[in-house]
Amino acid sequence: MANALYDATGVRFRSPPFSPARVRASLQARRDRGKRRWWWAGALAVTGLLATLWPWRASLAPVSRPATNLYSAETIERGRLVAEAGDCAVCHTAEEGLTNVGGRPFETPFGTLYSTNLTPDPDTGIGNWSYAAFERAMREGISRDGRHLYPAFPYTDFAKLSNADMQALYAYLMAQPAVAAPAPDNDLRFPFNVRSMMAGWNTLFHRDRTFQPDPARSPQWNRGAYLFEGAGHCGACHTPRNLFGAEKTGQARLAGALVDGWEAPALTADSRAPVAWTEESLFQYLRTGRSDFHGVAGGPMAPVVAGLAELPESDVRAIAHYVATQMDAPASATEAQQRQARERLAASAEPVGQEAGQRVFDGACASCHADGAAASFTGARQSLALNTNLHSERPDNVIQSILGGVHVEGVAGGGEMPAFSHSLSNRQVSDLVHYLRARFAPGETPWKDVGRTVAEIRREHNQQP
Ligand code: HEC
Ligand code: HEC
Ligand code: HEC
Repeated sequence: MANALYDATGVRFRSPPFSPARVRASLQARRDRGKRRWWWAGALAVTGLLATLWPWRASLAPVSRPATNLYSAETIERGRLVAEAGDCAVCHTAEEGLTNVGGRPFETPFGTLYSTNLTPDPDTGIGNWSYAAFERAMREGISRDGRHLYPAFPYTDFAKLSNADMQALYAYLMAQPAVAAPAPDNDLRFPFNVRSMMAGWNTLFHRDRTFQPDPARSPQWNRGAYLFEGAGHCGACHTPRNLFGAEKTGQARLAGALVDGWEAPALTADSRAPVAWTEESLFQYLRTGRSDFHGVAGGPMAPVVAGLAELPESDVRAIAHYVATQMDAPASATEAQQRQARERLAASAEPVGQEAGQRVFDGACASCHADGAAASFTGARQSLALNTNLHSERPDNVIQSILGGVHVEGVAGGGEMPAFSHSLSNRQVSDLVHYLRARFAPGETPWKDVGRTVAEIRREHNQQP
């Protein structure tokens, strides 16, 4: 066994036990020395190896559903807010399905996975789960029956929840109506369909630790960090993942990532926002779904904002404060922002050689996205020259917005933009996207492969021209 571990990791273990903590500590030590050579090749081998060493996780006995009057109204309300911050219903509700009944598909590089029924139905949901079973699932990623869960379920972040929040969340879920509905079977490729592999994955990539406040920081910073890193699982979308689907660390943390065909932009000093973010504009964006100097929270960010809208204002301010420190952004800098915005608007001019795209824009978009025109009720409030997506390295979010439209229901002040998937051909969309880039982000290099990305996104959404 020691030799096998050595072959896999390059770390020499002279004696048993080959405990997870020891393997992890040694791998960590190697990484700290900067010898990354073995790391990726080794990790896969260790993952498989540890899985076979692991003790089978016990099934926790079923219980009968706790009486709903066991918990106070305050506890249930507290749990509701944790569930809103954690977007449970966003992932556990299928399109047009009942809330929290599960069945929403998740496309992963390893196949399709479905969310589970989170209602207190005893047979198909979590109705017969004790608190201990619920807590183990949320902190360790292990289902009541002992099966390992996949990290598409962000238990890696939910592990940071405080005990009080975790208990309140359980109380809230148990107090909801029970709906009987089995989740569809997953369609994952071998070896990823072997759930016990996740034991090794957890050893390498998961820390089951509640949030530890940083005493050197303010209470507001710590509250923001707790919500961001824990229930809010913001990094689950905004941090790129490694070959094993684990969030990258170090420089790559919050550096921006693709999720559900959208780009979740960088939340670091590397942000591509044309007008620098400030704590105040982050608060406005997270609280209302749009910001004067940036635009709208669309795509998968829209339900996040709808969840945050339920939280007290002080919580959203705390998150904005924490994000601002990740971005090195000032508290507020309205004058500097106004100057930057003016410069950006002045720079956007009709580009040459983009007549085909310009014709599409004039016909389909200019009525709402006219520059300089006063914002109308239906019109967009911000020029596209201020939108991060036009300045990104990738055209994905711009294409998504054009094909699918912009829908930010449930967010006060959010505008509506119709979908153009039926009225524009792939060719028209790519001409338009090249034009938008040249006009609104004239300093950036033109995007490559726009036509292919348009076709791919249309295929994923099953949107016919
Ligand atoms: C990003 C999407 C996502 C979010 C957000 C999410 N879940 Fe899940 N959850 C999943 C998926 C997918 C699974 C199924 C995982 C599997 O089968 O391995 C799951 C599984 C679970 C399970 C295990 C159920 C079982 O039968 O084994 C529990 C418990 C759970 N989620 C609770 C929650 C709670 C509570 C929240 C909100 C605080 C939440 N989830 C938020 C995607 C999500
Ligand atoms: C389900 C994935 C997902 C989660 C979870 C998520 N985001 Fe986002 N986020 C996105 C996407 C996608 C965008 C781009 C939206 C657009 O431009 O319409 C975005 C945009 C943003 C932006 C604007 C960035 C810019 O430069 O335009 C901020 C700020 C942000 N998110 C903060 C957060 C915070 C804080 C959280 C946690 C409370 C969070 N996000 C959770 C996917 C997500
Ligand atoms: C009926 C009015 C309307 C039309 C027509 C329209 N838009 Fe929009 N668009 C909006 C609104 C409202 C928003 C939300 C942002 C805001 O309020 O500033 C928006 C946002 C956007 C965004 C930013 C999306 C995001 O998530 O960051 C892009 C890109 C965009 N529009 C492109 C276009 C293009 C290209 C066309 C033409 C094919 C078009 N729009 C046509 C109203 C419209």
